[in-house]
Amino acid sequence: MKVNNALKVTVVCSQLLLAASVFAAESKSADVFYYNLTDSFIANLDKILTQEGSEQGINLKKYNAADDAYAQSETLDIALADKKDTPLLINLVDSSYAGEFLASLPKDTTRQIIFFNRNVSDAALASYDNAWFVGTSPRESGRYQAEILVSYLKAHPDYDKNKNGVLDLVMLKGEQTHLDAVLRTQEVLKVLNEQGIKYKVVFSANANWQFQKGFDFMDQAVSSLTFNNIEAVVCNNDAMAMGAITDLNQYGYNLEDANKYIPVLGIDAIPEARKAVEEGRMLGTVCNDATKLSEVLVTMVKIDTKDSEEISKAIGLPVLDKRISIPYHKICNAQ
Ligand code: GAL
Repeated sequence: MKVNNALKVTVVCSQLLLAASVFAAESKSADVFYYNLTDSFIANLDKILTQEGSEQGINLKKYNAADDAYAQSETLDIALADKKDTPLLINLVDSSYAGEFLASLPKDTTRQIIFFNRNVSDAALASYDNAWFVGTSPRESGRYQAEILVSYLKAHPDYDKNKNGVLDLVMLKGEQTHLDAVLRTQEVLKVLNEQGIKYKVVFSANANWQFQKGFDFMDQAVSSLTFNNIEAVVCNNDAMAMGAITDLNQYGYNLEDANKYIPVLGIDAIPEARKAVEEGRMLGTVCNDATKLSEVLVTMVKIDTKDSEEISKAIGLPVLDKRISIPYHKICNAQ
């Protein structure tokens, strides 16, 4: 009898422990603040991140600022009033708000704050010891994009359709002050120079990452320049590239007729762009790795440590000055 009681106590205790650990695993959660869920890359990231969270037992609560910086700061204030110290994953509408936001944290908090996708300053990161940034090195994507273009041009020495001695280039860029847009553009042009490709930017516009703006600007470029004077279209992301391709397609370009083709490049490797590359409507894209980004964010929440080395070991990437850079990969369709 005594033995049985002891056994019972042990069983009950271990069940309690089990319940506690299941509860702990189930109760691990994080709040995610997106700058804008109509952004194609962010919407795709959201799908992947949600999946990753559920696989790793992290409950993610999402907020969409719909590109409204003020609304986002209000939502963040509400989150701070929550005493649970839930980790916050923040994709800022206005990157310059990071410092002010961190300064508004209660003095006794140790809450984990991870900014992602939209870069924040070193000063902001240094101002709070549990603040991190997970992003990319934008120049790397510009370089890969340019390399895809250069190998196409080398394989097609007749690319200079109007025989003016230069590559006539349309550039569709992201938001004017967004580092991804600025550095990707600079790097593409730098690589073209390094590779001895003479070019002229014949049309350039900030299409702010958007499909519709990509479509509209491409249409403007086509009507002002005509097809013969456009020899490549380089876009800072896929959504704008897909807009440009959709515009070209309505004129029979980048479909079946090999004589009606303009190389178009994007960045992100969203599913629509991967398909367009496979179908030969788009020359290439560069993978902005939403899967690895999601894995890193969820792992960081899960291990919840301020030890850079521990984070680095868990995610398999270096952590330098509280920054983690997710590598890009090249995806292309040799034509
Ligand atoms: C970039 C991405 C763009 C856009 C932007 C938003 O990294 O390539 O498509 O999503 O982030 O900040």
